[in-house]
Amino acid sequence: MRSLHCTLFVFALLTLLTTQTHAEPASDDASFEARAGALIQQFKGNLKNHLQKAMQAGGPTHAIEVCSKKAPEITAAMSTKTLRIRRVGTRVRNKETNVPSAEISKVLAKLTPQEPAVSTTINGRKTFVRGIYLNNAVCLTCHGDKSQMSEELRTTLHTLYPNDEATGFKMGELRGAFVVQQSTP
Ligand code: HEC
Repeated sequence: MRSLHCTLFVFALLTLLTTQTHAEPASDDASFEARAGALIQQFKGNLKNHLQKAMQAGGPTHAIEVCSKKAPEITAAMSTKTLRIRRVGTRVRNKETNVPSAEISKVLAKLTPQEPAVSTTINGRKTFVRGIYLNNAVCLTCHGDKSQMSEELRTTLHTLYPNDEATGFKMGELRGAFVVQQSTP
């Protein structure tokens, strides 16, 4: 009896293991999400680094000038052969590169602070979207109330981004998202 139990147990274990090894779609998705998450961390760290340095070197007006040059460069440089990464806005500052597609906008509308990330497929490409919530007061220096900004800062913003919509944000609000997509379907 004992050996039968034992055999059954081993059989069950083997079935379990075999089933798990064959669950390829799930592990494929998990690996995509892990790679996307890691790329976002790197991208975020890189942007933060440049922003902090520029703020320390010359305050917000200087930092906006640096950001307007560096952000698109860093964004382009961070994509890999297989993954494309970018930032999008709920209301956008850089309309040339950061406007979300209709599909991504739909995903943005579903994000919540409790569930800030969504993994989905858009036009056959695996897509990972991680919301950017405003949880650092420094962000409001350049994305907060315009009336709180210095004349110099407002003028610089207006010169570089005449159609800027990315002001008037409050703490806790969804500012946009990191979007990672497979390069090919
Ligand atoms: C020194 C001013 C400044 C500060 C501080 C700042 N930003 Fe920005 N932000 C910008 C500029 C300039 C752009 C446009 C960059 C570009 O041209 O791609 C931008 C773009 C963005 C975008 C891309 C969408 C869009 O509207 O173009 C997101 C998302 C964003 N910022 C989030 C943040 C968050 C979160 C913080 C705080 C950690 C922050 N920003 C702090 C100046 C700033």
